[in-house]
Amino acid sequence: MSSTSRDVSVPALEVKDCQKRFKGYGRNEVVTAADNINLIVAPGTIVALVGSNGSGKSTLLSMVAGSLLPDSGQIFVAGEDVTDLPSWQRTGRVAVVRQNPEHNVFSALTIAENFALADAGKSRSFNLKRAAGPRVRDIAHAALKPFSMGLEDRLDALAGTLSGGQRQAVSVAMATSRDPGLLLLDEHTSALDPTRARVVMEQTEAIVRSRRIATLMVTHDMNHAIKHSDRLILMHRGKIAMDLDQEEKAGLTVPGLLSRFEKLTGETLPDSAVLA
Ligand SMILES: Nc1ncnc2c1ncn2[C@@H]1O[C@H](COP(=O)(O)OP(=O)(O)OP(=O)(O)O)[C@@H](O)[C@H]1O
Ligand SMILES: [Mg+2]
Repeated sequence: MSSTSRDVSVPALEVKDCQKRFKGYGRNEVVTAADNINLIVAPGTIVALVGSNGSGKSTLLSMVAGSLLPDSGQIFVAGEDVTDLPSWQRTGRVAVVRQNPEHNVFSALTIAENFALADAGKSRSFNLKRAAGPRVRDIAHAALKPFSMGLEDRLDALAGTLSGGQRQAVSVAMATSRDPGLLLLDEHTSALDPTRARVVMEQTEAIVRSRRIATLMVTHDMNHAIKHSDRLILMHRGKIAMDLDQEEKAGLTVPGLLSRFEKLTGETLPDSAVLA
């Protein structure tokens, strides 16, 4: 679905009463990673998801991506119940960029071939060399240019030869090039140095805004969480503990956010920008 044909009256994402438990270390210990999560994300909205380690951020993203099945509850993407669809049947509608650059691109393939794979979607028979032809090269060129890293002129370079920052730029460019209604970012800049992290974050925001892609962005960088979002959600022990809209988020500072978290939970929220 292209950004122009998307129905703006239907939420990009609806998570309804989702629960996910894991077996803990102890014999009978159970960890509730997602504790009755309810969340509605409007089309085109950028939602920052913050919270301490183990608060359930990745679990929530994995359930939405389809790599983890909730124990109970439902997930709707653009109004369609996708709860039981495996992740590969959600591609095209839901795109994911993970923390580790290695997990997002195939190192042994060229940039153009990686784009060809991302573009292939559901096609049954597929020839990689042929698929990475002029049409895909044009898509890759246009998608990579905004990052100003010169990657658009290196389409035949093996992805394995790229730096972490370059690979994440390729990952975001690939993830957004098929115009998904929903993009999931799980700490996608945290493995990068501060300068590269800033470039990738700024370009990510520019792209998702221009294409009106609703985005759920997990980050431990509180400055990014405040600056590059329309809405900020704080998770704690598998629950949504705080949900700030644009208006409530206006004027929020990093120290202000950290102190609100502390008052709410009695714990300290780690901020990667402070730790760095
Ligand atoms: N596959 C799994 N098996 C067992 N327990 C799991 C599994 N995945 C997550 N958990 C547990 O669920 C809880 C939530 O984990 P999750 O990875 O969602 O946290 P997170 O908020 O993403 O943390 P971080 O900031 O460290 O990435 C944690 O207690 C974790 O140990
Ligand atoms: Mg995580």
